[in-house]
Parts: sequence; C-alpha cells; structure tokens
Amino acid sequence: MNIYIKTYGCQMNERDSEALAGMLCARGHKIVPDEDSADVMIFNTCSVRDQAERKAVGKVSFMKKYKDRKPELIIGVIGCMAERRGESLLEEIKHLDFVLGTGKLHTLPDLIESLREKRLRRADTGPCNDVLTAMGAHYRPEGGSNVLGQIAITRGCNRFCSYCIVPYVRGREISREMEDILAEARMLAADGVREILLLGQNVAAYGMNGETASPAPEYSPFADLLAEMAKIDGLYRIRYTSPYPTYFNDKLIRTIAENPKVCRNVHLPLQSGSDRILKLMNRQYTADLYREIAGKLRRAMPDITFSTDVIVGFPGETEEDFRMTRDLMNEIGFDQSFIFKYSPRPGAKSAQEPDSVPQSVKEERDQILLADLAERTAKNMAAQVGTVQEVLAEGVSRRMAERWTGRTGGNRMIHFPPPEGVRPGDLLQIRVKRAGNVTLYGEVEKD
Ligand code: 5AD
Ligand code: SF4
Repeated sequence: MNIYIKTYGCQMNERDSEALAGMLCARGHKIVPDEDSADVMIFNTCSVRDQAERKAVGKVSFMKKYKDRKPELIIGVIGCMAERRGESLLEEIKHLDFVLGTGKLHTLPDLIESLREKRLRRADTGPCNDVLTAMGAHYRPEGGSNVLGQIAITRGCNRFCSYCIVPYVRGREISREMEDILAEARMLAADGVREILLLGQNVAAYGMNGETASPAPEYSPFADLLAEMAKIDGLYRIRYTSPYPTYFNDKLIRTIAENPKVCRNVHLPLQSGSDRILKLMNRQYTADLYREIAGKLRRAMPDITFSTDVIVGFPGETEEDFRMTRDLMNEIGFDQSFIFKYSPRPGAKSAQEPDSVPQSVKEERDQILLADLAERTAKNMAAQVGTVQEVLAEGVSRRMAERWTGRTGGNRMIHFPPPEGVRPGDLLQIRVKRAGNVTLYGEVEKD
C-alpha cells in the first residue's frame, strides 16, 4: 500500500515516524510524500500545547474530501494526542478509521494490514513495554541524507513538570538495553551514518530505572553509553536531546569533555529564571543551580554552545519573574532558544490553576525574548567570522544549488562552495568568512 505519514511535534515523534516508515517498508509498503496517491494516511500527533492538537485535528478533518473521493482510504491518528483523547477522537472525526496511542505504535503495520482485510473502527491506547524494543527500524528516503541518524534511547518521562502532559501521554520512563543501542548505532555507522542524535524526553536519565533524585557525582549510565558510542568506528559525532539540567554531574561532564566525538552543544531546558516559578513548575533546580551547571560545562569545554526551552506566561508569572528569565537567558548567552507561550493542558497539574496571564502579555513577553534572541544570535554568529570550524558536510544546500551545507560541532549551520571530490559525511575544516542572521558562510581551509 502507499502510505503517507505526517508528523507533528518533537524529534521523538519524528524518530517514531521514521521507525514506522522503516517497519512498513520492510513489509513491502511504500512511503509516499503526498496525500494524493495514499492508500493509508497516518498522522503522528503532539499534545504538548493546545495549538499542536488543533493543527492536527484541523488537518485530519480536512482529509474527509479524500475519503469521499476514495472510500477505501484508511486514515489513522497515532502518538500523543491519540493517547490523550483515545476513543473520543473516533466520535469526533467520523471519517477516522483508527487511533493508536504511544505505547502501541509498534502494532501499526499489523493494524493497517488487518484493516485492509476487514474494516473496523478502533482505538488502542495504554502502556505496553514491547514498544521499547520494537521501534529500532530505520528509513532512508530516496535522495535524503544518509549521514545523520537518530536513535531513541529512552521512552516516557517521570519528572512530572507541573505544566507538562508528556508523562501522561508517553507514560513512565523506560530505558533500552545498552547493547541494543550500540548494535543499532554500529549498524547505522556501517551504513554511512556519521552523526547520531540520541533521543529521549530526558536522555540524561538513561539507565536510571526511573529514579528522579539528582544522581551522585560519579553515577551516570548515560555517560557510560556516550563513552561506548564514541568507540564506534566510522561514527564521527554524537548529539543528544533533551537532558534535564540536574543530571550533569562530574562524571557526565568529564566524559563529554574527554570524548571529542560528543558535540560541544547542549540543549539545556531552562523553562524559567525565577525560583518561585521553577518551584511551581516542579523543576528541581534554582536559577543559581542552573548557572552553576552551565558554568561547569563551560569551564570543562570553553567552546560549548547552549540552547534552551523557556515558557512565558506560566500561571502567576509577574513582570519581576519574567525579568529574571530574560536576564538569565542573556547571561547564559543561549545560541538558540525555543520560547513557548504557556498553554494549560487538561490533566497536567498546573491546569488546575487559572491560566492567569493574559494572552496579550504572553505575546508581549514572547516578542521581547525573540528580539533578545535575534540580537544575541547575530552577535554570536558575527564572533565566528575568521575562525576555523570542523564541519560535517551534509550535501547540496536546499536554497543555493552551487553551495553545500553542513553543521559545526556547536550546531551552527554553514554554507560553503564544495571542494572537489567532497562527499556527504566528510569532515571539513572551514574558515568562516561571513555571518548571516542564522547561517554562516565559509570556505574550506587550504593547508
Ligand atoms: N505550555 C507551553 N509550553 C510547554 N512545554 C511543555 N508543556 C508546555 C505547556 N503546557 C514546552 C517546554 C518543553 C517544550 C518541549 O515544550 O518548554 O521543554
Ligand atoms: Fe515534560 Fe518535564 Fe518530562 Fe520534559 S522533563 S517531558 S518538560 S515532564
């Protein structure tokens, strides 16, 4: 069958969709990039903000016209919103055939094949540990990059930040066996993958059996995994996202510093710079502790870059709380930040409080942080001009056919004229000649 998969939300969802595409192809199905030729449409959804859910529901509703034209078309909603709303989605969207939650994703190939034989509308949600081991397949679209790969190392989250729906829709945190992860990584490297992104809602809690207390200074199964990954031949770079800040103990910081294959870029979600709000968010650190962790990382690796997530307009956030967030963001000097306007999620603890910050104030705070970000990024980018950066060549730039693109270890995008004989996956030394707003421009350094 021709299968169209549309993915919303985070990188974990992207990875789940990729694994499903791999599993479906292994069964002889074909992944198609457009809706028109699809026999099956799958929408992998996100629940983290109300807007994400609305977008997906809007899109799925719009697909009715395809079903009217082609009644045998199978349409399914999977992932976080499927888990959260379950059966009620079938009632709400009459042309929907199935709903499959996050714990049951691995059953998708069987499900759609059975629906082809016998049409039954069904919703399947709830936890299932098999999903952990069953989602290791990979998919390389024709003409897509073969150089970057992703591996999910944990699923679920145990942190219960008060605003967040993830622990409810993705269930308890579970980690894969290290040997399984390493085998998958070796296979990808043998296949030409040069950079692997390790994924989990809280990757740094890898192997801790769901424990949420801050680990002792020398206990970090995640560090052990990074050290083993770094030994894989043919693999040049390792990235990971997202780590909860308090897991950066001495062992983890030292292991990263000792392994240059682990990229000098950390996505370190801050959420707020006000201790009062952090406490209400159930984040187990203060602004000072966050500063201390970022400082330790920077002392161990002076060239490290940071990115972050921040929420504006959490219930009760005052001008003073917001000012503290803004100041801390400027102080750390994040290279990239993702700013979110608070969205109450039914089921999450903070949704029991009134959503007290008016939309216009959220909007205003969002704009202020975006302007700060633009200013910081421009400065950070300009500071790169004249430096020589190690760049992993990815391929021809989508915007300029005569240039190639790649990323620095610090995760900055760079465009360059391709040197003769260059291949995707080559590591190049590139001198930065010019800085744009979000991209660098450079030339290969002649030795
Ligand atoms: N409202 C707004 N932003 C949220 N995030 C998670 N839950 C919410 C919510 N209810 C943000 C956090 C998280 C990122 C993935 O999404 O900043 O790190
Ligand atoms: Fe949500 Fe917090 Fe878990 Fe991140 S750590 S997924 S914000 S509960």
